[in-house]
Amino acid sequence: MNAGHADPVINNPLRDPADRRLPRIPEPCALVMFGVTGDLAQRKLIPAVYDLAHRGLLPPGFVMVGFARRDWDDDDFIDMARGAAQAGARTPWRNEVWKRLAAVTRFVGGSFDDDVGFDKLTKTLEGLRDSHGIAGNAAFYLAIPPESFPNVIRQLQRTKLADNDVAGGWRRVVVEKPFGHDLTSAQRLNSLVDEVFGPDDVFRIDHYLGKESVQNLLALRFANTLFEPVWNSHYVDSVQITMAEDVGIGSRAGFYDSAGATRDVLQNHLLQLLALTAMEEPVSFSAEAIRTEKLKVLSAVSLPADLHAGAVRGQYEPGWCLGERVPGYSDEKGVPAHSRTETYVAVQLGIQTRRWAGVPFYLRTGKRLPHRVTEIAVSFAKAPHLPFHSTDTEQLGHNQLVIRVQPDEGMTLKFGSKVPGSQMEVRDVAMDFHYGDAFTQASPEAYERLVLDVLLGDATLFPKAEEVDASWRVVDPLEEHWRETTPLGYRAGSWGPRQADELLHRSGHTWRRP
Ligand code: BG6
Repeated sequence: MNAGHADPVINNPLRDPADRRLPRIPEPCALVMFGVTGDLAQRKLIPAVYDLAHRGLLPPGFVMVGFARRDWDDDDFIDMARGAAQAGARTPWRNEVWKRLAAVTRFVGGSFDDDVGFDKLTKTLEGLRDSHGIAGNAAFYLAIPPESFPNVIRQLQRTKLADNDVAGGWRRVVVEKPFGHDLTSAQRLNSLVDEVFGPDDVFRIDHYLGKESVQNLLALRFANTLFEPVWNSHYVDSVQITMAEDVGIGSRAGFYDSAGATRDVLQNHLLQLLALTAMEEPVSFSAEAIRTEKLKVLSAVSLPADLHAGAVRGQYEPGWCLGERVPGYSDEKGVPAHSRTETYVAVQLGIQTRRWAGVPFYLRTGKRLPHRVTEIAVSFAKAPHLPFHSTDTEQLGHNQLVIRVQPDEGMTLKFGSKVPGSQMEVRDVAMDFHYGDAFTQASPEAYERLVLDVLLGDATLFPKAEEVDASWRVVDPLEEHWRETTPLGYRAGSWGPRQADELLHRSGHTWRRP
């Protein structure tokens, strides 16, 4: 695959030397995906690899290896992967790109608890080293159910596939969330991973960090002077972080019913968004510096003293979503009839630092909500004094900065403005920034960015083990509190249980309707 070779790009006489967006191309390597028949590999990973190939970002020596419990040969896998790439790729379909990728695609059949498949994989990688010039470099992507992580990691240890010295190159592992089920299991998994891989070779995925609009939080806060002076408890009244989905659980009942919204989304995506919103400025833009600041925030997160009042969980009941009649959670295929798993969670958190003490951070996520939207809304305090008639400012709300993570990535700044006319009437208006309008280039998919970063060895966008632990410290007491309880019902297509509204009303707030 030569399309992405760096030199022609650097030497291109048509390139504007001021354009610093030089593509970073990884060293020759293999990407080994475990669980290629699963949902994640098919919907996200294989399309992401195609998109990287299409953009010329894969190295000349690159191989994609699929591993799964199937009696398949390379062609069977290539057929499946082609379908997945065609269905999910972001970039246009080009047969030449696919042909080049298909030519370097291999399949190894085997189960995770069986030595034979892993011995075959070892031989396959050995062979590819010479035939495809991948040196000893390989990244192992565990797109598999969490209960299979230990088996695969042990197999990588037994076969020495994880050993950089034996391989004569780098060996990296990519672990999908959820990383553990609680703090204890996460720590157990961490020590296993650390026993087998070096600390720089472990990449824990939280795909929200791969989204452009999430990375823009760092640019917004630390590249501008405008926001930082007011980014604290003196000026911020409250923060709301929402991740709403209109979909149900699809075919993921097996995984979802044992996880629930708290472990599936709050523990990772929502707390990472909170960390990026609230962290101090990193001393540099290095992976270590950014992760250190995020960890400080996560370690300072506090739960409400009364969990019963400050946290709400719900489960969707039958209803209408996007014009379609949809079943309740307990009627979904594969869900036990009396499941107590939550599909919605809302919680009020605090951050015990000088910057944030006293500011409520409201986090919520749910399935089967009215539409798909993820946003961070920072509400500012009202002006201490308004030199107007009170009737003139009746329609003036809080100044608000809304960072739209998806869809329609961008930002809205809401502030008061005079309504034209002879009265001094002030009303909220909005100023909008849309990524799509400001930049002509479409943003890469999160997985595209993250797979590339793994192959480049750049860990900036991957949470470190201590962050994962700190997040479980927030989530474990909630899970413990809810252990024997039944989630509140909410109608599919609504904004969640009524009690989630009451949670905010008690402190004089209301949820935004995004
Ligand atoms: C995943 C969760 O991490 O994120 C899913 O496991 C959820 O339950 C998904 O649907 C949402 O991702 P995105 O990028 O579509 O917001």
